[in-house]
Amino acid sequence: MSLPPEGGTPNENIKAERQTKIFMTTPASESLPQYFTRRSEEVNQWLDSLLPKESTPPVNLHKAMRYSMFAGGKRLRPVLVLASGEALGAATDDLMPAACALEMIHTYSLIHDDLPAMDNDDLRRGRPTCHKAFGEAMAILAGDALLTQAFRVLALDAPHRDALKQLRVIGEIAKAAGTVEALIGGQVVDMESEGQTVDAATLDYIHRSKTGAMIRAAVIVGGLIAEATDEQMSKLDDYSRRIGLAFQIADDILDVTQTSEQLGKTAGKDQAASKATYPAIHGLEASKKKAHELVDEAIAIIASLGGDTQILAAIASFIVARKS
Ligand code: FPP
Ligand code: MG
Repeated sequence: MSLPPEGGTPNENIKAERQTKIFMTTPASESLPQYFTRRSEEVNQWLDSLLPKESTPPVNLHKAMRYSMFAGGKRLRPVLVLASGEALGAATDDLMPAACALEMIHTYSLIHDDLPAMDNDDLRRGRPTCHKAFGEAMAILAGDALLTQAFRVLALDAPHRDALKQLRVIGEIAKAAGTVEALIGGQVVDMESEGQTVDAATLDYIHRSKTGAMIRAAVIVGGLIAEATDEQMSKLDDYSRRIGLAFQIADDILDVTQTSEQLGKTAGKDQAASKATYPAIHGLEASKKKAHELVDEAIAIIASLGGDTQILAAIASFIVARKS
């Protein structure tokens, strides 16, 4: 199993061990939940090594960062980096820093999304939200710190075999976390649409930006690190856009069909806040149909990528089959 670096700077260790690590194959007998559990544990070990320890001052800040980071998310984005990169032959150690950076950015976005100024939520990943546990100011700063740490990891802890390649990875992640058809831009349009009549095009913009961009970045970054051809990058792009939209449609559906306990976050919030969602605009059945169509298309696209794409296909199916 790929292990996080121990002692010394992570970057030195990664460099030293990189050459000897073998590409980890997936045992044919392993189910997707087993695969997710195994890869999430690996990601968690790397995250642990890439974040300041709780005992490092300022202790409260590092506690808050780790509280949200290790609250038991699905680790979808890092697993997508691993799955797309490894499908095309990249080594796990080369993929992990970018995989972890994306999860840090995702976690920051959840912390800030839950703040009183935004969704004002008390529950996330099955426990009190960061601001409930640590106070609002510390939650803002823990989110800021996770975002900053992500780019520090990308700059300092990623293998630097090819600096230009790493710059492209950093650029893709910065774009996805940014404002133009990306995480922050999508969040702003989502907020501004609350209580408004939203058309289908605006809803697609919100979904594509708020959720789709980070999911797309995960798949694209795996391809970049694996040095995918232009044709392969275009297939990864087409696949990732479909699973990104399907993921947010599924999220909208789960909000109305699951309980808070099942979701680990407050259920029914979208309707309560008059949010623009797929079921609200298109109806529940049409939303389910659309999500399944997108997943079928994604599976067909990825089948022609070349390499072992079984996991990428299984992740696409999981995106609509999941219960949380
Ligand atoms: C759940 O992911 C999260 C989403 C579907 C994305 C929602 C987008 C935001 C909250 C944007 C916030 C942006 C800013 C800038 C504040 P998941 O089901 O993978 O969650 P998990 O990691 O807990 O499993
Ligand atoms: Mg929100």
